[in-house]
Amino acid sequence: MADPLIVTLDGPAGVGKSTMAKRLARELSIPYLDTGAMFRAVAWRLGDGAWERGDARLTVDLAGMEFSLSGIGEDSVLSLDGVPIGDEVRSEQVAMWASNIAVLPVVRASLKAAQQTLGQRFSLVAEGRDMGSVVFPAARCKFFLDATADERARRRLRQLAGMGKTADFDELREQIARRDHQDRNRAEAPLKPAPDAVIIDTTNLGQEQVFAALVRGIRG
Ligand code: DC
Repeated sequence: MADPLIVTLDGPAGVGKSTMAKRLARELSIPYLDTGAMFRAVAWRLGDGAWERGDARLTVDLAGMEFSLSGIGEDSVLSLDGVPIGDEVRSEQVAMWASNIAVLPVVRASLKAAQQTLGQRFSLVAEGRDMGSVVFPAARCKFFLDATADERARRRLRQLAGMGKTADFDELREQIARRDHQDRNRAEAPLKPAPDAVIIDTTNLGQEQVFAALVRGIRG
């Protein structure tokens, strides 16, 4: 059997990685792996303040967790211990908890192993912060999407509006900036492009233009 095809899509919060990862995975007829959802699901399961628990306890908690993946493109379903990860992890609060546990080497090591196991089993569009730089350094194609914090807050606001939810723009921008700062400045696997990643500044691009750039990057 041919080696699985791995495409990595990294970038900061709210840049539109998930939308593009789903479309790209559909285009390629493979699953997409939302690694942010893995950190969120673990954070949700462990609860508030888990990052202060200490490595020994966290190691035991993490050892009992198993991720699985099924489906293709936007129909990909990521499950933790057989239960699909759902909207319960989608709040800004759980996102911040996820960012807090994501600085811990013991958490990163456990999720990296889980991500690499999935990458051995499936071809993937893998989206996150360190997919190209750390988890899948030999990936066939690596992309890094970026946009200004203002533009990302505007996109998140529109996305929330689409779900019938409202939020305060300044608060949203401040939450995104705080999480980015932590994700970019942590010691282990900080958010940054892999040396061989194609960097796409999406600030002034529409979704179709970003998608076209990704497809061009893959098909050459
Ligand atoms: O992509 P997201 O917003 O769902 O990710 C939530 C948090 O999880 C993010 O702020 C940092 C962490 N994360 C990470 O450290 N590494 C990844 N590959 C994906 C997410």
